[in-house]
Amino acid sequence: MAEFEHVTVLLHEAVALLAINPTGTYVDATLGGGGHTGEILKQLTTGKLYSFDQDDTAIKYNQTRYADEIAAGKLILIHQNFRQLKVALAEQHVTAVDGIVYDLGVSSVQFDDGQRGFSYNYDAELDMRMDQRQTLTAKTIVNDWPFNDILRVLSRYGEDRFPKQVARKIEQHRDKGPINTTFELVDIIKEAIPAPARRKGGHPAKRTFQALRVAVNDELGALEDSLTQALELLAPSGRISVITFQSLEDRLVKQMFREKTSMPDLPAGLPVLPGQFEPDYKLLTRKPVLPSETEMTDNHRSESAKLRGIERQ
Ligand SMILES: C[S@@+](CC[C@H](N)C(=O)[O-])C[C@H]1O[C@@H](n2cnc3c(N)ncnc32)[C@H](O)[C@@H]1O
Repeated sequence: MAEFEHVTVLLHEAVALLAINPTGTYVDATLGGGGHTGEILKQLTTGKLYSFDQDDTAIKYNQTRYADEIAAGKLILIHQNFRQLKVALAEQHVTAVDGIVYDLGVSSVQFDDGQRGFSYNYDAELDMRMDQRQTLTAKTIVNDWPFNDILRVLSRYGEDRFPKQVARKIEQHRDKGPINTTFELVDIIKEAIPAPARRKGGHPAKRTFQALRVAVNDELGALEDSLTQALELLAPSGRISVITFQSLEDRLVKQMFREKTSMPDLPAGLPVLPGQFEPDYKLLTRKPVLPSETEMTDNHRSESAKLRGIERQ
């Protein structure tokens, strides 16, 4: 199989935050090209790693890349959405883990595959599914969803500057016939956005495409479900590290971690804090860890990356 052209972001930082125990049980929730998986495997002796990806391409690539570790029973690949974390691990008789890493979003391989419809740079069917078994595609959303639902998706998930105009134009065009391809959608978006705004802030279709991708893959819903399970699965001293690439994801992670690590509201003036009120989790990163200047220069995809971590007490 061709080389998987994905440069792992925050490779060492995300794994270092897990403080790997060489005999422990770990999860890579987002296998992709296997960068974080490889870094964790290097540090394990008798420990085990369960690596998830909902994309068949990533699973197949790593079956070859890590054939030895798989044969030795050190690495187990799981072709599942990470929102099935608990159930899929239970099927492997795993009910507690020492660390989980998430490196969210799509890989460069998915993004740059002209057939998958993730990118406004390649003409393809409007697809955007990470999991090829799923039925919902971007084409369904654009052609079949009511105006208000499209507007909600664009406003919420893409932080689109002109959601109403774009949703309206989509509606006008689909009345004449189906919108099938990425380039057709790019033209519609360009028509919808006022000319001065088109020249600023990157590619005019960037935010609309991001919003559709998040909706097709229910990225925020899956993350919230999965993190809730991950927090429960952690053994004492177990850790989670999460790399996000957009503000909605980062806000979700930050809020969930903050809730888990905050003190409950207690009556004022208690002399000693009763043990049962101590939070069960501790933040490992008050501020997110960002890629170094060098990493950002070498890999532009890393520019928006933020890493946060939490530990179970
Ligand atoms: C940014 S890439 C991960 C790259 C990887 N850390 C590496 O070093 O090569 C994200 C991967 O996670 C997968 N993914 C995203 N959301 C997922 C989900 N909800 N369930 C399972 N896999 C998911 C994508 O298919 C993609 O392959």
